[in-house]
Order: sequence, then C-alpha cells, then structure tokens
Amino acid sequence: MKVLEAEFVKGFIRMCDDGFNQNWHERNGGNLSYRVKAEEIESIKEELSEASPWQPIGTGVPGLAGEYFLVTGSGKYFRNVILDPAANICIVQVDASGKNYRICWGLINGGRPTSELPSHLMNHEVKKQVSGGKHRVIYHAHPANIIALTFVLPLEDKVFTRELWEMATECPVVFPDGVGVVGWMVPGGRDIAVATSAMMKKYDVAVWAHHGCFCSGEDFDLTFGLMHTVEKSAEILVKVLSVRPDKLQTISPRNFRDLAADFKVTLPEEFLFEK
Ligand code: 13P
Ligand code: ZN
Repeated sequence: MKVLEAEFVKGFIRMCDDGFNQNWHERNGGNLSYRVKAEEIESIKEELSEASPWQPIGTGVPGLAGEYFLVTGSGKYFRNVILDPAANICIVQVDASGKNYRICWGLINGGRPTSELPSHLMNHEVKKQVSGGKHRVIYHAHPANIIALTFVLPLEDKVFTRELWEMATECPVVFPDGVGVVGWMVPGGRDIAVATSAMMKKYDVAVWAHHGCFCSGEDFDLTFGLMHTVEKSAEILVKVLSVRPDKLQTISPRNFRDLAADFKVTLPEEFLFEK
C-alpha cells in the first residue's frame, strides 16, 4: 500500500487540518507525532527507504529502539499538510541504541522532523511505558487561551488543574489526572524534553508557560479531543476572569467527589482542596 492510502496517515493529516482550523497553528507553530503500529509499518513497507543517514536525536530513548513515527516537519506549516503531505510530514525510525533517527519517507523537498523531536520521543517513551503501550499520539499546539492563562495564574499544577476543572463539568472526567505546568524554558532541546516527559509520567497534559501545550493520548480523536477540551475550558476561564475575577459560584470539592463516584473516575485529593 502507498503511505498516503494508509488510514493512520489519513487520520494524522485530518488532525493537522483540524488543529489549523482551530487557530492553534500560526505559521509553523505546533507539531504532531504518532507511534506507528508494527502491522501499519508492514502495510506500507514498499514505500519506506533505508537510504537516509542516521542523525542524532539529541537525547536517548532506548525504550523506543527500532520504532517508527509519523511526524510533522520542522518549519512546516500545519496549513500545508493537507495540501501536500509528502512535503510537510515524514516517517522516521529510531535506531537500536535509541540515540539516532533516520527519515524513511516524506519531506520530499528536504527538511528535518520537528525541532521538538526530543520532547515528542521522550514523551512517547514515558507514555508507552505507563500506558502499557496504549498511548500513540503526542500533540503540541499553541492555543491562545491556555497560553494567556500562563500570564495570570500561578504556574502550579494544582492551580491550573483545579481552575480548568471548575470551568466545565466534563473536564475532570476527560482529564482526571490533572494538568502539569512547565515554567518558561528554551524550546526545542533536551532540557525541556526532560522536564515535559517527567510531567507525562503523571499527566496526559503539560502546559508550557508562555508557549503552548502538549497532550498525549491513545489515538487521534482522543488526543485532539483532550487539547480541545482543555482549551475550551481555558477560554471559559479567560472570559470569567475578564468579566468578574471573583467567581460568584463554582463547582465545589463536594461536587467533584459526587461526580467522580457517578462517572467512576478517581480524582486525586491533592486537587480537591478547600479554598
Ligand atoms: P517546528 O516547526 O520545528 O515543529 O517548531 C514549532 C514549534 O511549535 C516549536 O515549539
Ligand atoms: Zn511550539
């Protein structure tokens, strides 16, 4: 089968377009990666090349040795992925040491995978382990309301989690583990990858102060839906803070406990503090 005929590639392209249409991907902002299943790689083998040289990832991901990833290209625009996928995305393979990658398909006009490859791969390595192999999608976007909140809320996991949970009843059900916050760091390198992947041991969402957000999930729908839910909640919070910073009423710790019991989710007590 041709790469562009594979369902996982079509799903990836659709997600890029959906993200662009949400206004989360100005210019080349944001990046997406998918850990490809063995049978999916087998189905497109005819188009994969082993000719490109191995190049350093910039960090070590031994837990991903030999795995293949579909990723967006560095400097490429989400806007253009649907128009010319082979020029804007690529399939890379990680080598046996977990220190190098090579391009096996895509980026036909040149280029390299996203500059956030260290963060994507370190997050994948953590999530593969803690989810027992279920999580396959790592998504980085620049949603305006999440970013806006990083200027007005303390950069603390418990503050972001509780404030976002309070903005929509579905939130604690969609991200019951909460949200992690990474203080401002230089993007694109190993240090921010180490900090973010440490958050991913505990959470499916990591906010990057004054920059954007990372989400992890099992498939494209769940991961996009997670980003969408967090950003919608952030949008409501921005509106509430703009109209009346002291909320007149909200969802209480007792309400959250009742919700958790009925929806059969576990909400960590650390986020159910009395204010
Ligand atoms: P890339 O174009 O290298 O993917 O970078 C975009 C971005 O959002 C960096 O954080
Ligand atoms: Zn970014």
